[in-house]
Amino acid sequence: MFELESYLETKRDQINIFLDKILPDATNDSRLVKAMRYSLMAGGKRLRPILCLATAEGVGGQVEDVLEAACALEMIHTYSLIHDDLPAMDDDDLRRGKPTCHIAFDEATAILAGDALLTLAFQMLSAAEIKGDNQGSQWLTVIHRIAHAAGFRGMVEGQMSDIASEDKVLSLDELEKLHSLKTGALIEASIYSGAILGGGSSEQIQQLGVYAKNIGLAFQVKDDILNVEGDPKLLGKAIGTDKLRKKSTYPSIMGLEKSKLFATELVNKALLALESFDNRSGPLRAIANYIVQRKR
Ligand code: IPE
Ligand code: IPE
Ligand code: MG
Ligand code: MG
Repeated sequence: MFELESYLETKRDQINIFLDKILPDATNDSRLVKAMRYSLMAGGKRLRPILCLATAEGVGGQVEDVLEAACALEMIHTYSLIHDDLPAMDDDDLRRGKPTCHIAFDEATAILAGDALLTLAFQMLSAAEIKGDNQGSQWLTVIHRIAHAAGFRGMVEGQMSDIASEDKVLSLDELEKLHSLKTGALIEASIYSGAILGGGSSEQIQQLGVYAKNIGLAFQVKDDILNVEGDPKLLGKAIGTDKLRKKSTYPSIMGLEKSKLFATELVNKALLALESFDNRSGPLRAIANYIVQRKR
């Protein structure tokens, strides 16, 4: 039996060691670096970088081929959380079990720490390109895809729609679009990056795209569910906040039980897309199930 817990822990350690080396030691550094480190090393699940590593390995690549991409994705994700928690956005006080960046520091520092993590991610990705091994062109493809996923046709647009839809009741189609941009785009880019840098075939990349689309949406549906019935101690963030801010979510539109069924259906579709993969895709299968079963 594949042991997901220990797999996740091993990968998390590899990612944390790499992130720790990249970020300057904050002890004697500026307030900005302290804030960047504070949020980045606060103990997230590291799902996006783990998906990137697992996908690379799933198509026969090595962890070393993709570590920069994986860690860049985590930096972009952490930046998005810092900004998402700001008073002008979701106005949250707790993240990853600790006071949010703007509470621990201040708003200006939190905005700048987010900006700096986003920029550092692309610096790191382009450094991998410049290093100039024979993967050069793949890196450029990956940089382009990640930029697209993070930007105004991806996550940022999703965040804009999320804010604009407060107080409105969205249709299911509108909500699916919002979730796909807000959360799905970066998850899809994580899997795509792992597939490209790991040397996946075009057939594999296509199937992984289907897997990614489905788990990306399932992940946000589960986030909506956990916001209703999760344990804030395990989650490291408050619950009930979506209702408080009158956000349209899957539970608010289709109800809690139907949302759970929907998330499971999405995961089943994701698993189906991996049917032609060999047993190196074991972690990807286990992660798909974990996405709906997780408590944090
Ligand atoms: C939270 O993401 C925000 C969403 C996009 C749903 P995660 O649940 O991956 O948060 P961390 O990284 O583990 O803190
Ligand atoms: C956060 O989404 C998504 C991004 C930051 C892109 P949410 O606002 O729904 O997630 P939580 O519940 O704060 O983690
Ligand atoms: Mg939000
Ligand atoms: Mg939020």
